Amino acid sequence: YSTTHDADLVVIGAGPGGYVAAIKGAQMGMKVVSVEKEPSLGGTCLNVGCIPSKALLHNSHLYHMAKHDFKHRGIEVGNVTFDFKAMMDYKEKAVKGLTGGIGMLFQKNKVQLLRGVGSLVAPNKVEVKGEKGIEVVNTKNVILATGSEVTPFPGVQFDEKQIISSTGALALQSVPKRMLVIGAGVIGLELGSVYQRLGSDVTAIEFLTSIGGVGIDGEVAKSLQKILGKQGLKFKLGTKVLAVRKEGAVVKVDVEAAQGGNKETMECDVVLMSIGRRPYTKDLGLEKVGIALDDRGRVPVNNKFQTTVPGIYAIGDIIHGPMLAHKAEDEGVVCVEGIKGMPVHFNYDAIPSVIYTHPEVSWVGKTEEDLKKEGRAYKVGKFPYIANSRAKTNSETDGFVKVLSDKATDIILGTHIIGPGSGEIINEAVLAQEYGASAEDVARVCHAHPTCAEALREANMAAYIGKPINF
Ligand code: FAD
Ligand code: NAI
Repeated sequence: YSTTHDADLVVIGAGPGGYVAAIKGAQMGMKVVSVEKEPSLGGTCLNVGCIPSKALLHNSHLYHMAKHDFKHRGIEVGNVTFDFKAMMDYKEKAVKGLTGGIGMLFQKNKVQLLRGVGSLVAPNKVEVKGEKGIEVVNTKNVILATGSEVTPFPGVQFDEKQIISSTGALALQSVPKRMLVIGAGVIGLELGSVYQRLGSDVTAIEFLTSIGGVGIDGEVAKSLQKILGKQGLKFKLGTKVLAVRKEGAVVKVDVEAAQGGNKETMECDVVLMSIGRRPYTKDLGLEKVGIALDDRGRVPVNNKFQTTVPGIYAIGDIIHGPMLAHKAEDEGVVCVEGIKGMPVHFNYDAIPSVIYTHPEVSWVGKTEEDLKKEGRAYKVGKFPYIANSRAKTNSETDGFVKVLSDKATDIILGTHIIGPGSGEIINEAVLAQEYGASAEDVARVCHAHPTCAEALREANMAAYIGKPINF
């Protein structure tokens, strides 16, 4: 080995799960080594996920507003155009600012960074293969946080130019004329929206008969489909993709109805494949320490994030639960607290989901479909944004808030929001749910006027007493 290090904790992977765990460990007095194979810190989320996608979503939305919406608000801007390269440069700057920030946080908290591929050679020994050769760290604990990768489609090779994953969609050189999106889940809707706003003719092909991916409430999914449809996004639901092939500059996609039926060939310039992600555990040496993956390729852990091997823990996209950055971060924090002997509490019923379309969609807790399946008696409180004064003033009236609470106790079981400010407002619903609030509790809290969050209060009022004030 070129160098030998000693540590209390080695964290493999510096995405949202790993970098947060490393900082927390150092803050709690441990000697922490973070291992990352990519030159830039922050993992999928900061480099090719949450951050670049939100930069493009925000700026494409502003462009779309300026082009199609400003005039009726009394704003004259003349002929609005966009510079795609400048938009991409802006996105890159947003990414660099945040990934660089993690390096500074590591320095401030005295987390030692080793650059290279980390792998387990024994329960208390991690090898790091990097440019400096092979280093080794002897450690008391290891947290695995190696994240996820795009789920491949059988027989389809990504060239990231014509046949692209989300990573290619965040780095295109120009706006394609025609784009097909395979999978109308979170990535398909967000990145499909970006290119549709910039002028692409976008059709999303989806195997299921509804959009939005896993966990979305059925009524919300229907409303979202209608709203995005009005914006110009097209959907081909209940449709199975058979093959994707390149013919020169054209990509052809063979499809058939999921229930069986006529085959059809669709054409586009670029096809975005977004059918999900899978855990990434390549080169991690799990077999050397005797950790077996479950049937979905995940690392099995108990409720303290302990794997089957003492001293080895796992968090984030490589374990069970939704593949979300904030879920990975929070697991990182409580996992480290557990290593230090503190109690480990993580409530999977109180993790928010947000789809950053316009309007945004967000939810926490159970859907109506979940509650029906469980046979649980529940109340529904709904409030439409058309009756919210701020939304009306801003001409952003599409959507509604729906609160589901227990019929007997009024305790909130789920909140679903489609409409302006949804991605921010949902955090209030998460807070309420985490603390076991009833719909009445939220309805009795004074909310600032005029804000879109008042719609959440009114929906809670509707759930608790049957009637909101303003609708
Ligand atoms: P990752 O972020 O994947 O990080 C894992 C890190 O480990 C990587 O840096 C990798 O290089 C490194 N690594 C892997 N193996 C090794 C090894 N052997 N040695 C050293 N290093 C290794 N989530 C949200 O909550 N909100 C969003 O808006 C959102 N948008 C997204 C948009 C897109 C297009 C995509 C693809 C994902 C998005 N996600 C979003 C999901 C989010 O990115 C992930 O849930 C999150 O990044 C998971 O964090 P993680 O730490 O588990 O893994
Ligand atoms: P997804 O699971 O959200 O959606 C995949 C969609 O593809 C589903 O609707 C599924 O039914 C469909 N599908 C699967 N196989 C198909 C096939 N053969 N043909 C047609 N349709 C098919 O996955 P997605 O969009 O790829 O995103 C991956 C993960 O990244 C998500 O699970 C999410 O956790 C994370 N993410 C989160 C974001 C956010 O929080 N805003 C944004 C983007 C990604």
